Amino acid sequence: MKTEKNIEIDYTLDLAHTENPTRRIKPPQREFHLLKLLGSRRYNEEMVVPGDSKKRCELSAPDSLYKMDSHLHMAVDAHGDGLHRIRVWKNEIPESWAVTDLPASVAVDSLSASIADQSPVFTMGELSIGEWRFHPEALRFSIVCDGELPRVYGLGEKMGRLERSGRVWDMWNTDEPEHLPNRDPLYVSIPFALISVQKEWYGVFVDNPARQYWDTALSRNNTITIDVEDQYLDIYLFKADSPRSLLRKYTSITGTSPLPPVWGIGYHQSRYSYFPDTEVRRIARNFRRHKLPADVIQIDIDYMSGYRVFTWNKIGFPDPGALLADLRAEGFRVVTIVDPGIKADPTYSVYKEGADKEYFCKLPDGSVYTGAVWPGESVYPDFSRSAVRSWWASMHSELFKYGVSGIWNDMNEPADFTGDPVYRPNYTVPNELQAVTDTGTPVSFARFHNLYSAGMNRGTREAFHKHLPDRRGFVITRSGYAGLQRDAGVWTGDNCSWWEHLAAAIPMLLGLSISGVSLVGSDTGGFQENASAQLYARWFAFSAFTPYFRSHTADDTRAHEPWSFGSNVLEISRHYLELRYSLIPYLYTAFYWSEIYGEPVMKPLFFDWPQDERLAEVNDEYMFGEGFLVAPVTSADHLWRHVYFPEGNWYDFWDDSLFQGPSDRLILAPIGKLPLFVKGGSIVPHEAPRMHTDAQRGSVLKLDVYPDENAYASGKLYCDAEEGWEYRNGEYSLISFSFNGGTLSVEFLHADYTPHWKKIDLRVHDSRYVEDTADVVSDTETEKTADPQRLESVFLPTPFADRHRIKMRKIIPLREGRWLL
Ligand code: GLC
Repeated sequence: MKTEKNIEIDYTLDLAHTENPTRRIKPPQREFHLLKLLGSRRYNEEMVVPGDSKKRCELSAPDSLYKMDSHLHMAVDAHGDGLHRIRVWKNEIPESWAVTDLPASVAVDSLSASIADQSPVFTMGELSIGEWRFHPEALRFSIVCDGELPRVYGLGEKMGRLERSGRVWDMWNTDEPEHLPNRDPLYVSIPFALISVQKEWYGVFVDNPARQYWDTALSRNNTITIDVEDQYLDIYLFKADSPRSLLRKYTSITGTSPLPPVWGIGYHQSRYSYFPDTEVRRIARNFRRHKLPADVIQIDIDYMSGYRVFTWNKIGFPDPGALLADLRAEGFRVVTIVDPGIKADPTYSVYKEGADKEYFCKLPDGSVYTGAVWPGESVYPDFSRSAVRSWWASMHSELFKYGVSGIWNDMNEPADFTGDPVYRPNYTVPNELQAVTDTGTPVSFARFHNLYSAGMNRGTREAFHKHLPDRRGFVITRSGYAGLQRDAGVWTGDNCSWWEHLAAAIPMLLGLSISGVSLVGSDTGGFQENASAQLYARWFAFSAFTPYFRSHTADDTRAHEPWSFGSNVLEISRHYLELRYSLIPYLYTAFYWSEIYGEPVMKPLFFDWPQDERLAEVNDEYMFGEGFLVAPVTSADHLWRHVYFPEGNWYDFWDDSLFQGPSDRLILAPIGKLPLFVKGGSIVPHEAPRMHTDAQRGSVLKLDVYPDENAYASGKLYCDAEEGWEYRNGEYSLISFSFNGGTLSVEFLHADYTPHWKKIDLRVHDSRYVEDTADVVSDTETEKTADPQRLESVFLPTPFADRHRIKMRKIIPLREGRWLL
């Protein structure tokens, strides 16, 4: 790209717009002026001033350079069909933290250019991008949508409806403790939107971590106006034939959520805080005593000594190594919280070392900034620098050496409790702070703020690479910027034990999911306040069908463990834990698609049925993986749930009742029943539940077949070592199942990992096929069944045979109802 390097960036500090920031949902009032076009050229051609040359009064795009007034440049190019980039800059565009994989520019012309009001307008189908405006502190542009009102989705973690139009959204990572429906921003900023206009799908990603305001068709019905508080714009425009392929394009340049180690998708139990170690042991014991599957106990800030990161409280946790080893023997891993704020204590080695090396963020006068977080006076590592990230990574040996398996990065907006909350922007550090960056040129926090967590998460990833190179690592973060999915999953922060927050969790998690972050979950049961038994049971059932499944609660609440609400809730929790664990093969496969294609694990219904108008605004149902439709009950005392079924036939998971979509139904949903449906045409792989993912696994792979109207069903199963990196060298198996008119075909699409299962248990949920005898035939292995050692493998082919196929004709009678009243 032809940007000019090494020209100083203007770091004007703007405190004016930080007034009353937590309540403000309007961009600061500024006098922008329209950016006029001074000249244009194709790359390698001479600049032509409009009007000067009769030949060249039209603009050409892509592959064009423009000269604008206010000394700005604009460049347009394409990086694939339906993937354009428009850049505007004065001096230079810093290296992106979000875009890691941009294909070389190509010559495609799905974007055309014209001039309106002496300013360029780029048109892509129904979208016109123009109205370029300048202010010394910000740039603005608009996306005008042809015809009807646009629908806007994505934008990461937001409260309110999944469809985002009609509001102003603030992209500014914030420690917002009150998740009220109108509250914005929260902890994560992802300036990527999926826009549907006239049934066409477009994506806009404005890659600039400075504060942005998106007016999503609020001020003008058909226009999205974006203010970026910086002197450059890096805009990606996508066009695709569906929201799914749009997201694929976005994640192809910003990265996908990697496959977590399998234990990470098991159940996590947390509270602020399990303290001391005997309490952690008691919690673990109770899980096993109550026969509750679980993989992780998370330990909150009290494990540290005076909240000093990378230390252990000697009284509460005198022997962390023994504790973690004992827990591990019971099948529990430990995830510890890590906060970026370092206690400003000259006797504390982490502080001393960081101070000596000048690793902490400073104010423009050169003094280290001291804020306040849990440890009291605290300093903030400057994660803009690779040396600081590496130092941070090395600190993790204090955790890993005792057997810590995963890291939970909190408070990384970065939170700061000092000062008057009204004048402290969203309880985070002031914008005067500076990040030094690897170039040595200081950048103010007006520009680095939204990247702070990205730097911390990168440091944490590096910690895993450094200390545990054979492990995939497991990182959960509260804050992040676009592209965060490469390094971490997200939990949605400090919600409350309110029914409203259970309901809000659905669009919140979906918004993150369709903004590229697949590993997402909410604090099950609610963080602040006390959950009722009913709320906990409903939330627990819902969370069992979210990608990241963790219960967590604050320090001043009653106990929020599955056994804390009486035997009924205990039984319900056990039931959903068992269900979650039995579906791990299915869920793990969904995570595989996420890594490969950026396919979210949790999806809004419009993803699969973009043509169905009814689905455009559904906030309370979603797909979990390919086959499950989930319609959680999110209101107290409701025993019925309205469900809208999209096109197709739908099986009630619990009793196999069949519904034909599109249709509206009322579904009976007693307290223990999560309304759960399987799409006709699915084959769901699952297995016997275990107490944890390290426990001995059964040899039977269960396949539940839900035929569609044509008696056809299909499904895929991915398996690998479930930890480590060998799968990236091809050591995995991808198995395809198809069921056609009573015959199951099994095919290895990739066969480089021997599945644990040796036998398939097939269950067809369609009364047309009920029989009571089995007849199993294999194309290739029938003869070998004489050998008892080989008998079982006939059911599931061994890998390394090229394209292995068996046929089974075996229909099992349907079970009676399976749900809990
Ligand atoms: C923050 C986190 C919460 C955690 C608490 C104490 O509020 O969001 O999850 O429990 O800090 O560390």
